[in-house]
Amino acid sequence: MTQKIVITGGAGFIGSHLADACCRLPGQPEVVVLDNLRSGRRANLERNQHHSNFRWVEGSICDAPLVEQVCAGADWIFHLAAMISVPESLLNPRECVELNVNGTLNVLEAARKHGAKKVVLSSSAAIYGDDPELPKHEKLRPAPQTPYGITKLDGEYYLEMYRREYALPTVSLRYFNVFGPHQDPTSQYAAAVPIFIKKALAGETIGIFGDGQQTRDFVYVADVAAANLWVAQHSDLSGVFNVATGSTVTILELAQTIRTLLGSTSTIQHLDPRPGDIRASWSDPGKLFSTGFRPSHDLASGLKLTLEAARKE
Ligand SMILES: NC(=O)c1ccc[n+]([C@@H]2O[C@H](COP(=O)([O-])OP(=O)(O)OC[C@H]3O[C@@H](n4cnc5c(N)ncnc54)[C@H](O)[C@@H]3O)[C@@H](O)[C@H]2O)c1
Repeated sequence: MTQKIVITGGAGFIGSHLADACCRLPGQPEVVVLDNLRSGRRANLERNQHHSNFRWVEGSICDAPLVEQVCAGADWIFHLAAMISVPESLLNPRECVELNVNGTLNVLEAARKHGAKKVVLSSSAAIYGDDPELPKHEKLRPAPQTPYGITKLDGEYYLEMYRREYALPTVSLRYFNVFGPHQDPTSQYAAAVPIFIKKALAGETIGIFGDGQQTRDFVYVADVAAANLWVAQHSDLSGVFNVATGSTVTILELAQTIRTLLGSTSTIQHLDPRPGDIRASWSDPGKLFSTGFRPSHDLASGLKLTLEAARKE
């Protein structure tokens, strides 16, 4: 029986959805979020405060004694806290290593010391880089191109090493492009979907980096939360899994779809290409699907829910 769950980065976009899902689990395990609000939001925490089994500890994954204290007695540890921005990682590679590698090591050490039953790392499709082979599958040789991608791959290697050397059960989930309600359109790290929605709702020009023909595999946030729970609940699962739908859309098509769904008059403007941007991102999610997991949403149904939430906000 799962009694305690730790979520690093649980004040963030994905982490707050995962925290909500964890709080609702049968038996109401204690759910502890460790987050220093580097890119997370108080509003995300406030949405979960009504769960009596939810607790937020304000602090950093770089504070090893604190991480150890928070992780004591945890059955599952979902490690999401990270420097999440590719451009920022190119500007500050050392800080990226400090957060994404040393922070991950702090979590692994605490998990090992306290005998956690599963550690799940939020990894990224960025580890595939611009390898022309499509769709991306887990057997491809990783080719990360930025400190963000390199440090996510380092994290995966450490999780595998802790599994092999210390018998610590670990899984790394390589998310493709996650979208859904409460994704911040105003942060400096904002992603395409929330920015396009905000601009379309305001009737403002939608800016697209480059020609807009770059492709992405969008996965709905509730499905990402469900994938985390799935691999934690299945003790036999370990290693690396893509988390995506297996279908792809261009950024230009995405902007046009959002504009149409909202009946917006926004125009689309092409901007200079962004450094470090990957041209084609399309997943083969077959490995995770073969375990019995399936996402419950496609892009259209996920966008519908996201737009409804954005209109309310
Ligand atoms: N959103 C995506 O499309 C996507 C795709 C691939 C991978 N990921 C990964 O998923 C995870 C969650 O991403 P997100 O989109 O929810 O981003 P987010 O910025 O909303 O969440 C990250 C959280 O980590 C916290 N954090 C950062 N540094 C910290 C530190 N030193 N100590 C404690 N907390 C800290 C932030 O405050 C934030 O709440 C990240 O690891 C990210 O790399 C996200």
